[in-house]
Amino acid sequence: MTANHTNTRYIIRYAKPSDTRTILKLGREAWPEWSGKNTHADAKYTRYAIKNRHALVTEVNGKIIGYAFFGIVWNYMHLLASYVKPEYRKEGIGSAQMERRIEIAREMGLKKVLSDCDVDNKVAYKYHIKNGFVRCGYIKRLWDREDSFVLSKDL
Ligand SMILES: CC(C)(COP(=O)(O)OP(=O)(O)OC[C@H]1O[C@@H](n2cnc3c(N)ncnc32)[C@H](O)[C@@H]1OP(=O)(O)O)[C@@H](O)C(=O)NCCC(=O)NCCS
Repeated sequence: MTANHTNTRYIIRYAKPSDTRTILKLGREAWPEWSGKNTHADAKYTRYAIKNRHALVTEVNGKIIGYAFFGIVWNYMHLLASYVKPEYRKEGIGSAQMERRIEIAREMGLKKVLSDCDVDNKVAYKYHIKNGFVRCGYIKRLWDREDSFVLSKDL
């Protein structure tokens, strides 16, 4: 997928094993506390997601500036980490990462996309609502100390 929403030209593609270090580095920038406590699990999961084609990266001029993971459970996709480097935000790239995952879910014949975000992550919450998700649940201490909203979108 290639796009040019504002001034930035980018491509979204499946991640390759050689992208692992860069994705882990971006993950440490995005969630330093969580990554610091979960280094081994983070690396293991990232390798698993790449191997199973459950990880996308966004490139600008050949450099990875964002990534998005997902998992498949029965007939739905669960969105996992979505990240765009701060200097590339608010240009529609996060939404394009979301759209590409939704497109993959449709291609797989899935019925629903589920996601979650920390209750205090207002930007992530708006990002989901903007992309057609509705709030459907609440999980206490999902990732770390934070409670999370669950969001869903029917396909
Ligand atoms: C969430 C994230 C991926 C969005 O990426 P992005 O490229 O900026 O997203 P988009 O430009 O497509 O914005 C989509 C919508 O999100 C919301 N949004 C994005 N940035 C926002 C901000 N700073 N303040 C308020 N709303 C914001 C808006 O509703 C926006 O739509 P609009 O531009 O029409 O108003 C990015 O902010 C990020 O990497 N955050 C840190 C990691 C994170 O929290 N990930 C989500 C975990 S669930």
